[in-house]
Amino acid sequence: MKNASIVGLALWSLCITSVRAETVLVTGSNRGIGLEFVKQSAALGWTVIATARTPDAADELKALAARHRMIRIEALDVVERASVEALAAKYAGTAIDVLINNAGVLGDLSKQQLGSFDYEEFQNVMAVNTYAPLALSDAFRAHVAASAQKKIVGITSGSGIISAPVGGGSYYYKASKIGLNMMFKTLATDLTGEGIIVAVIAPGAVNTDMRRAAVGAARAAKDLPVDESVRAMIKVIDGLSRADSGRALNYDGRILPW
Ligand SMILES: NC(=O)c1ccc[n+]([C@@H]2O[C@H](COP(=O)([O-])OP(=O)(O)OC[C@H]3O[C@@H](n4cnc5c(N)ncnc54)[C@H](OP(=O)(O)O)[C@@H]3O)[C@@H](O)[C@H]2O)c1
Repeated sequence: MKNASIVGLALWSLCITSVRAETVLVTGSNRGIGLEFVKQSAALGWTVIATARTPDAADELKALAARHRMIRIEALDVVERASVEALAAKYAGTAIDVLINNAGVLGDLSKQQLGSFDYEEFQNVMAVNTYAPLALSDAFRAHVAASAQKKIVGITSGSGIISAPVGGGSYYYKASKIGLNMMFKTLATDLTGEGIIVAVIAPGAVNTDMRRAAVGAARAAKDLPVDESVRAMIKVIDGLSRADSGRALNYDGRILPW
């Protein structure tokens, strides 16, 4: 009887170790595309490290976490080095399958026009959209390298495609996404040896606060609903292979030109 229960226990622990829980870390997960990534990843049974710079004010995220015990809310301001380092240290030894660098800012568009440029605003947009994804990817690369999927994703924009027709204004935002694209292409090269897949994905024009600030609520209402964009991007992330590393992909899976 004693032997039978020991064998049973051994079999049970074998089952536990063979069932892997996938883990995703999302930045800027209190609203918009980030919040939807958390929602859909949790619904798929993933463990979600849902980060926000002011978790106390993240009411929707907190309500979601109350329904899904696999969502862990963490404070993270992506431009604060101490904040990034503290989170990386807290999760040292935890495998993170997918790191989604989603947090982003449009910046004040009135300060991105000829005659009204503002260097501080430029720095702020570049810090959040361009520098932070690189610094965060560096801080968490050991966590990603230790995972099964080994994927680092940056959320780019159609505004970051130089070869596409371009409208006026939004100088900093456009520059920030072009910078992100080049840095992630370089990161893909540097992380090849660690088996990490690095890609940027454009979510399309999505009806979020950012899009409403850019084009107005009426026009944004005609754009992609956030759940549709994120569902499609999760499919793209799921299908990422080594061949995609260093690529820019559209939410529908299309390879984007630079
Ligand atoms: N919506 C679109 O049509 C569209 C198109 C192309 C690309 N994108 C990209 O998609 C990503 C998400 O955009 P969205 O439309 O969901 O925008 P959003 O609704 O404005 O949300 C932006 C998110 O980023 C967070 N964030 C900003 N600065 C941060 C910082 N320093 N530290 C941590 N979090 C920070 C915000 O947190 P707070 O609430 O604390 O500000 C918020 O959670 C961005 O990278 C954006 O450039 C969006």
